Amino acid sequence: MGLDEVIKMASNESPVGPSPMAAAAARAALTQAYRYPGIGERNLRRKLAGRLGRGLTADNIVIGNGGTDVLRMIAQAFVFNGGNTVMCRASFPMYRIATDTFGGEAQQVEPTPDLRHDLPAMADQINADTRIVYLCSPNNPTGHIIPQAEAKAFMARVPAHVVVVFDESYCDFVTEPDYADSLAYVAEGRNVLVVRSFSKSAGLAGLRCGYVVGRQELADYVRHTQLPFHTSDVVLAAASASLDDVDFLREIREAVANGRAYLYHAICDLGLTCLPSQANFITILDPPMGANELAAAVLQRGYIVRAMGAFGLPNGVRVSVGTRAENEKFVAVLREVIGNP
Ligand SMILES: Cc1ncc(COP(=O)(O)O)c(C=O)c1O
Repeated sequence: MGLDEVIKMASNESPVGPSPMAAAAARAALTQAYRYPGIGERNLRRKLAGRLGRGLTADNIVIGNGGTDVLRMIAQAFVFNGGNTVMCRASFPMYRIATDTFGGEAQQVEPTPDLRHDLPAMADQINADTRIVYLCSPNNPTGHIIPQAEAKAFMARVPAHVVVVFDESYCDFVTEPDYADSLAYVAEGRNVLVVRSFSKSAGLAGLRCGYVVGRQELADYVRHTQLPFHTSDVVLAAASASLDDVDFLREIREAVANGRAYLYHAICDLGLTCLPSQANFITILDPPMGANELAAAVLQRGYIVRAMGAFGLPNGVRVSVGTRAENEKFVAVLREVIGNP
Protein backbone atom coordinates (compact mmCIF):
# COMPACT_ATOMS: atom_id res chain seq x y z
CA MET A 1 0.00 0.00 0.00
CA GLY A 2 3.05 2.26 0.36
CA LEU A 3 1.83 3.86 3.61
CA ASP A 4 4.25 5.55 5.99
CA GLU A 5 1.98 5.13 8.98
CA VAL A 6 -0.90 2.82 9.92
CA ILE A 7 -3.25 3.82 12.75
CA LYS A 8 -5.13 1.05 14.51
CA MET A 9 -8.61 1.99 15.68
CA ALA A 10 -9.88 -1.58 15.53
CA SER A 11 -9.64 -3.30 18.93
CA ASN A 12 -10.93 -0.75 21.44
CA GLU A 13 -7.52 -0.35 23.01
CA SER A 14 -6.56 2.71 25.03
CA PRO A 15 -5.28 5.52 22.80
CA VAL A 16 -2.73 6.57 25.43
CA GLY A 17 -1.47 3.28 26.85
CA PRO A 18 -1.02 2.34 30.50
CA SER A 19 -0.38 4.62 33.44
CA PRO A 20 3.35 5.31 33.91
CA MET A 21 2.89 3.91 37.44
CA ALA A 22 1.64 0.62 35.97
CA ALA A 23 4.53 0.42 33.53
CA ALA A 24 7.03 1.11 36.34
CA ALA A 25 5.44 -1.55 38.56
CA ALA A 26 5.62 -4.10 35.73
CA ARG A 27 9.31 -3.30 35.14
CA ALA A 28 10.06 -3.65 38.85
CA ALA A 29 8.20 -6.98 39.01
CA LEU A 30 10.31 -8.29 36.11
CA THR A 31 13.33 -8.55 38.40
CA GLN A 32 11.44 -11.29 40.26
CA ALA A 33 10.34 -13.09 37.11
CA TYR A 34 12.48 -16.12 37.99
CA ARG A 35 10.04 -16.80 40.87
CA TYR A 36 6.60 -18.32 40.47
CA PRO A 37 3.78 -15.86 41.20
CA GLY A 38 3.29 -15.25 44.93
CA ILE A 39 0.84 -13.15 46.89
CA GLY A 40 0.20 -10.61 44.13
CA GLU A 41 -3.04 -12.29 43.12
CA ARG A 42 -4.55 -12.20 46.60
CA ASN A 43 -3.36 -8.63 47.11
CA LEU A 44 -5.02 -7.50 43.89
CA ARG A 45 -8.26 -9.24 44.87
CA ARG A 46 -8.13 -7.49 48.27
CA LYS A 47 -7.51 -4.12 46.67
CA LEU A 48 -10.32 -4.62 44.16
CA ALA A 49 -12.73 -5.69 46.90
CA GLY A 50 -11.87 -2.52 48.85
CA ARG A 51 -12.52 -0.39 45.78
CA LEU A 52 -15.80 -2.10 44.96
CA GLY A 53 -17.17 -1.79 48.51
CA ARG A 54 -20.61 -3.36 49.17
CA GLY A 55 -19.11 -5.65 51.80
CA LEU A 56 -17.29 -7.64 49.11
CA THR A 57 -14.08 -9.45 50.05
CA ALA A 58 -11.19 -11.01 48.14
CA ASP A 59 -13.17 -14.28 48.15
CA ASN A 60 -15.80 -12.72 45.89
CA ILE A 61 -13.25 -12.08 43.14
CA VAL A 62 -11.45 -14.30 40.64
CA ILE A 63 -8.65 -12.95 38.47
CA GLY A 64 -7.96 -14.16 34.95
CA ASN A 65 -5.73 -13.35 32.02
CA GLY A 66 -8.10 -10.80 30.52
CA GLY A 67 -11.88 -10.68 30.41
CA THR A 68 -11.70 -13.27 27.64
CA ASP A 69 -10.03 -15.77 29.96
CA VAL A 70 -12.57 -14.94 32.67
CA LEU A 71 -15.42 -15.61 30.20
CA ARG A 72 -13.75 -18.93 29.32
CA MET A 73 -13.51 -19.82 33.04
CA ILE A 74 -17.18 -18.97 33.61
CA ALA A 75 -18.28 -21.15 30.69
CA GLN A 76 -16.01 -23.97 31.88
CA ALA A 77 -17.58 -23.73 35.34
CA PHE A 78 -21.25 -23.65 34.32
CA VAL A 79 -21.76 -24.87 30.73
CA PHE A 80 -22.01 -28.58 29.94
CA ASN A 81 -23.19 -30.78 27.13
CA GLY A 82 -26.95 -30.35 26.92
CA GLY A 83 -26.97 -26.96 28.62
CA ASN A 84 -27.63 -23.72 26.79
CA THR A 85 -26.71 -20.07 27.12
CA VAL A 86 -28.68 -16.99 26.04
CA MET A 87 -27.16 -13.86 24.51
CA CYS A 88 -27.97 -10.96 22.19
CA ARG A 89 -27.12 -11.69 18.55
CA ALA A 90 -25.41 -8.30 18.16
CA SER A 91 -22.83 -8.72 20.92
CA PHE A 92 -19.36 -9.94 21.85
CA PRO A 93 -18.70 -13.26 20.01
CA MET A 94 -16.76 -14.78 22.91
CA TYR A 95 -20.02 -15.78 24.65
CA ARG A 96 -20.93 -18.05 21.75
CA ILE A 97 -17.36 -19.32 21.33
CA ALA A 98 -16.96 -20.19 25.04
CA THR A 99 -20.37 -21.92 25.04
CA ASP A 100 -19.41 -24.00 21.98
CA THR A 101 -16.05 -24.87 23.57
CA PHE A 102 -17.71 -26.53 26.54
CA GLY A 103 -20.43 -28.33 24.59
CA GLY A 104 -23.35 -25.99 25.28
CA GLU A 105 -25.83 -24.55 22.82
CA ALA A 106 -25.58 -20.79 22.29
CA GLN A 107 -29.01 -19.23 21.77
CA GLN A 108 -28.75 -15.85 20.10
CA VAL A 109 -31.72 -13.54 20.60
CA GLU A 110 -32.44 -10.81 18.05
CA PRO A 111 -31.86 -7.27 19.36
CA THR A 112 -34.65 -4.67 19.40
CA PRO A 113 -35.05 -2.57 16.21
CA ASP A 114 -32.76 0.06 17.77
CA LEU A 115 -30.19 -2.71 18.41
CA ARG A 116 -30.53 -2.91 22.19
CA HIS A 117 -30.60 -6.16 24.16
CA ASP A 118 -34.23 -7.36 23.94
CA LEU A 119 -34.39 -8.34 27.61
CA PRO A 120 -38.03 -9.53 27.61
CA ALA A 121 -37.26 -11.79 24.62
CA MET A 122 -34.08 -13.01 26.34
CA ALA A 123 -36.07 -13.84 29.48
CA ASP A 124 -38.60 -15.74 27.29
CA GLN A 125 -35.71 -17.80 25.88
CA ILE A 126 -34.63 -19.14 29.30
CA ASN A 127 -35.60 -22.76 29.95
CA ALA A 128 -34.72 -25.56 32.39
CA ASP A 129 -31.41 -26.21 30.55
CA THR A 130 -30.26 -22.60 30.54
CA ARG A 131 -27.01 -22.14 32.46
CA ILE A 132 -25.96 -18.58 31.63
CA VAL A 133 -27.48 -15.38 30.24
CA TYR A 134 -24.90 -12.91 28.96
CA LEU A 135 -25.63 -9.18 29.19
CA CYS A 136 -22.98 -6.91 27.71
CA SER A 137 -23.18 -3.37 29.08
CA PRO A 138 -21.87 -1.23 27.46
CA ASN A 139 -22.42 -3.63 24.61
CA ASN A 140 -19.74 -4.34 22.06
CA PRO A 141 -20.41 -3.46 19.20
CA THR A 142 -23.35 -1.09 19.79
CA GLY A 143 -22.09 0.91 22.79
CA HIS A 144 -25.52 0.73 24.47
CA ILE A 145 -25.88 0.27 28.21
CA ILE A 146 -28.56 -1.69 30.02
CA PRO A 147 -30.67 0.81 31.98
CA GLN A 148 -31.49 0.23 35.64
CA ALA A 149 -35.23 -0.36 35.25
CA GLU A 150 -34.79 -2.80 32.37
CA ALA A 151 -32.24 -4.79 34.37
CA LYS A 152 -34.59 -4.85 37.34
CA ALA A 153 -37.53 -6.13 35.29
CA PHE A 154 -35.29 -8.75 33.70
CA MET A 155 -33.76 -9.93 36.99
CA ALA A 156 -37.26 -10.37 38.41
CA ARG A 157 -37.90 -12.98 35.70
CA VAL A 158 -34.61 -14.92 35.96
CA PRO A 159 -35.03 -18.29 37.70
CA ALA A 160 -32.59 -19.34 40.42
CA HIS A 161 -30.82 -22.02 38.34
CA VAL A 162 -29.50 -19.42 35.86
CA VAL A 163 -26.28 -17.40 36.19
CA VAL A 164 -26.51 -13.88 34.75
CA VAL A 165 -23.17 -12.56 33.51
CA PHE A 166 -22.91 -8.78 33.22
CA ASP A 167 -19.90 -8.12 31.00
CA GLU A 168 -18.80 -4.63 32.00
CA SER A 169 -15.42 -4.47 30.30
CA TYR A 170 -16.19 -0.88 29.21
CA CYS A 171 -17.88 0.31 32.43
CA ASP A 172 -15.29 3.01 33.15
CA PHE A 173 -16.41 4.93 30.07
CA VAL A 174 -20.08 5.15 31.04
CA THR A 175 -21.33 8.69 31.62
CA GLU A 176 -25.11 8.01 31.61
CA PRO A 177 -26.45 7.93 35.18
CA ASP A 178 -29.06 5.27 34.39
CA TYR A 179 -26.46 2.46 34.18
CA ALA A 180 -27.72 -0.79 35.73
CA ASP A 181 -26.05 -1.46 39.07
CA SER A 182 -25.03 -5.09 38.60
CA LEU A 183 -22.93 -5.26 41.79
CA ALA A 184 -26.10 -4.62 43.80
CA TYR A 185 -27.37 -8.03 42.60
CA VAL A 186 -24.11 -9.64 43.74
CA ALA A 187 -24.47 -7.94 47.13
CA GLU A 188 -28.07 -9.23 47.34
CA GLY A 189 -26.78 -12.79 46.84
CA ARG A 190 -28.25 -13.27 43.36
CA ASN A 191 -26.60 -15.60 40.84
CA VAL A 192 -24.86 -12.75 39.08
CA LEU A 193 -21.26 -12.55 37.87
CA VAL A 194 -19.79 -9.19 36.89
CA VAL A 195 -16.85 -9.30 34.46
CA ARG A 196 -14.38 -6.44 34.17
CA SER A 197 -11.14 -5.89 32.31
CA PHE A 198 -7.87 -4.01 32.66
CA SER A 199 -7.55 -3.93 28.86
CA LYS A 200 -9.63 -0.85 28.17
CA SER A 201 -9.49 2.12 30.56
CA ALA A 202 -6.29 0.83 32.25
CA GLY A 203 -4.59 0.39 28.87
CA LEU A 204 -3.18 -3.06 29.68
CA ALA A 205 -4.63 -5.08 26.78
CA GLY A 206 -1.24 -6.59 25.97
CA LEU A 207 -0.57 -7.79 29.52
CA ARG A 208 -3.92 -9.64 29.87
CA CYS A 209 -5.77 -9.07 33.12
CA GLY A 210 -9.46 -9.20 33.97
CA TYR A 211 -11.61 -10.31 36.86
CA VAL A 212 -15.05 -11.50 37.85
CA VAL A 213 -17.08 -10.60 40.93
CA GLY A 214 -19.76 -12.85 42.37
CA ARG A 215 -21.11 -14.33 45.56
CA GLN A 216 -18.58 -16.67 47.09
CA GLU A 217 -20.10 -19.98 46.01
CA LEU A 218 -20.20 -18.86 42.37
CA ALA A 219 -16.72 -17.33 42.58
CA ASP A 220 -15.39 -20.63 43.95
CA TYR A 221 -16.85 -22.58 41.02
CA VAL A 222 -15.03 -20.22 38.67
CA ARG A 223 -11.82 -20.38 40.74
CA HIS A 224 -11.71 -24.15 40.26
CA THR A 225 -11.06 -23.60 36.56
CA GLN A 226 -7.87 -21.60 37.19
CA LEU A 227 -4.49 -23.17 36.56
CA PRO A 228 -1.77 -23.05 39.23
CA PHE A 229 0.11 -19.72 39.04
CA HIS A 230 -2.55 -18.58 36.61
CA THR A 231 -1.61 -14.90 36.28
CA SER A 232 1.92 -13.52 36.15
CA ASP A 233 3.23 -11.23 38.90
CA VAL A 234 4.28 -8.71 36.25
CA VAL A 235 0.65 -8.49 35.09
CA LEU A 236 -0.71 -8.35 38.64
CA ALA A 237 1.75 -5.61 39.62
CA ALA A 238 0.77 -3.47 36.64
CA ALA A 239 -2.95 -3.97 37.23
CA SER A 240 -2.61 -3.14 40.92
CA ALA A 241 -0.57 0.03 40.26
CA SER A 242 -3.07 1.15 37.62
CA LEU A 243 -5.78 1.17 40.30
CA ASP A 244 -3.67 3.60 42.34
CA ASP A 245 -3.27 6.10 39.51
CA VAL A 246 -6.70 7.67 39.87
CA ASP A 247 -5.69 10.91 38.10
CA PHE A 248 -4.60 8.96 35.05
CA LEU A 249 -7.87 7.04 35.00
CA ARG A 250 -9.90 10.25 35.28
CA GLU A 251 -7.95 11.79 32.39
CA ILE A 252 -8.45 8.79 30.12
CA ARG A 253 -12.17 8.74 30.90
CA GLU A 254 -12.47 12.41 30.00
CA ALA A 255 -10.38 12.01 26.85
CA VAL A 256 -12.49 9.07 25.68
CA ALA A 257 -15.79 10.83 26.44
CA ASN A 258 -14.61 13.87 24.44
CA GLY A 259 -13.21 11.75 21.62
CA ARG A 260 -16.36 9.70 21.20
CA ALA A 261 -18.57 12.83 21.22
CA TYR A 262 -16.33 14.34 18.56
CA LEU A 263 -16.39 11.19 16.41
CA TYR A 264 -20.15 10.77 16.81
CA HIS A 265 -20.97 14.31 15.70
CA ALA A 266 -18.32 14.51 12.98
CA ILE A 267 -19.39 11.18 11.46
CA CYS A 268 -23.10 12.11 11.62
CA ASP A 269 -22.20 15.44 9.96
CA LEU A 270 -20.83 13.44 7.01
CA GLY A 271 -24.36 12.09 6.52
CA LEU A 272 -23.63 8.67 8.01
CA THR A 273 -25.64 6.98 10.77
CA CYS A 274 -23.84 6.13 14.00
CA LEU A 275 -24.94 4.63 17.28
CA PRO A 276 -24.60 6.81 20.39
CA SER A 277 -22.04 4.99 22.51
CA GLN A 278 -21.17 4.71 26.18
CA ALA A 279 -17.93 2.84 25.42
CA ASN A 280 -14.59 3.77 23.82
CA PHE A 281 -15.80 3.18 20.27
CA ILE A 282 -18.41 4.41 17.82
CA THR A 283 -20.23 2.11 15.41
CA ILE A 284 -21.23 3.37 11.97
CA LEU A 285 -24.37 1.73 10.56
CA ASP A 286 -25.37 1.09 6.96
CA PRO A 287 -22.57 2.92 5.16
CA PRO A 288 -23.78 3.32 1.54
CA MET A 289 -20.76 1.46 0.13
CA GLY A 290 -21.16 -1.52 2.56
CA ALA A 291 -19.39 -2.21 5.86
CA ASN A 292 -16.57 -4.43 4.55
CA GLU A 293 -15.98 -2.03 1.68
CA LEU A 294 -15.79 0.98 4.00
CA ALA A 295 -13.29 -0.79 6.27
CA ALA A 296 -11.21 -1.78 3.23
CA ALA A 297 -11.30 1.77 1.81
CA VAL A 298 -10.09 3.42 5.02
CA LEU A 299 -7.42 0.70 5.36
CA GLN A 300 -6.08 1.76 1.94
CA ARG A 301 -5.56 5.17 3.52
CA GLY A 302 -3.82 3.85 6.65
CA TYR A 303 -6.66 3.39 9.18
CA ILE A 304 -7.60 -0.03 10.56
CA VAL A 305 -11.24 -0.16 11.68
CA ARG A 306 -13.41 -3.25 12.04
CA ALA A 307 -16.43 -4.44 10.06
CA MET A 308 -18.79 -6.07 12.55
CA GLY A 309 -20.09 -9.15 10.71
CA ALA A 310 -18.54 -11.47 13.31
CA PHE A 311 -20.31 -9.45 16.03
CA GLY A 312 -23.76 -10.02 14.49
CA LEU A 313 -23.88 -6.60 12.85
CA PRO A 314 -23.03 -7.14 9.17
CA ASN A 315 -23.94 -3.55 8.29
CA GLY A 316 -21.76 -2.03 11.06
CA VAL A 317 -18.21 -0.68 11.18
CA ARG A 318 -16.68 -0.10 14.62
CA VAL A 319 -14.18 2.69 15.15
CA SER A 320 -12.23 2.81 18.40
CA VAL A 321 -11.70 6.26 19.92
CA GLY A 322 -8.12 7.34 19.24
CA THR A 323 -6.09 10.35 20.27
CA ARG A 324 -7.50 13.71 19.25
CA ALA A 325 -5.15 13.89 16.26
CA GLU A 326 -6.03 10.32 15.20
CA ASN A 327 -9.76 11.01 15.47
CA GLU A 328 -9.48 14.18 13.39
CA LYS A 329 -7.35 12.50 10.73
CA PHE A 330 -9.76 9.56 10.64
CA VAL A 331 -12.72 11.85 9.99
CA ALA A 332 -10.79 13.52 7.17
CA VAL A 333 -10.05 10.09 5.67
CA LEU A 334 -13.69 9.06 6.04
CA ARG A 335 -14.83 12.25 4.30
CA GLU A 336 -12.53 11.43 1.41
CA VAL A 337 -13.77 7.83 1.23
CA ILE A 338 -17.44 8.80 1.34
CA GLY A 339 -16.85 11.44 -1.34
CA ASN A 340 -14.86 9.03 -3.57
CA PRO A 341 -16.12 5.51 -2.91
C1 LIG B 1 -17.44 -6.91 25.63
C2 LIG B 1 -16.07 -7.41 25.86
N1 LIG B 1 -15.86 -8.26 26.85
C3 LIG B 1 -14.64 -8.73 27.12
C4 LIG B 1 -13.56 -8.36 26.36
C5 LIG B 1 -12.27 -8.99 26.70
O1 LIG B 1 -11.20 -8.17 26.77
P1 LIG B 1 -9.88 -8.67 27.46
O2 LIG B 1 -9.79 -10.16 27.25
O3 LIG B 1 -8.80 -7.95 26.72
O4 LIG B 1 -9.97 -8.29 28.89
C6 LIG B 1 -13.71 -7.49 25.29
C7 LIG B 1 -12.60 -7.10 24.43
O5 LIG B 1 -12.69 -6.43 23.46
C8 LIG B 1 -15.02 -6.99 25.04
O6 LIG B 1 -15.26 -6.16 24.03
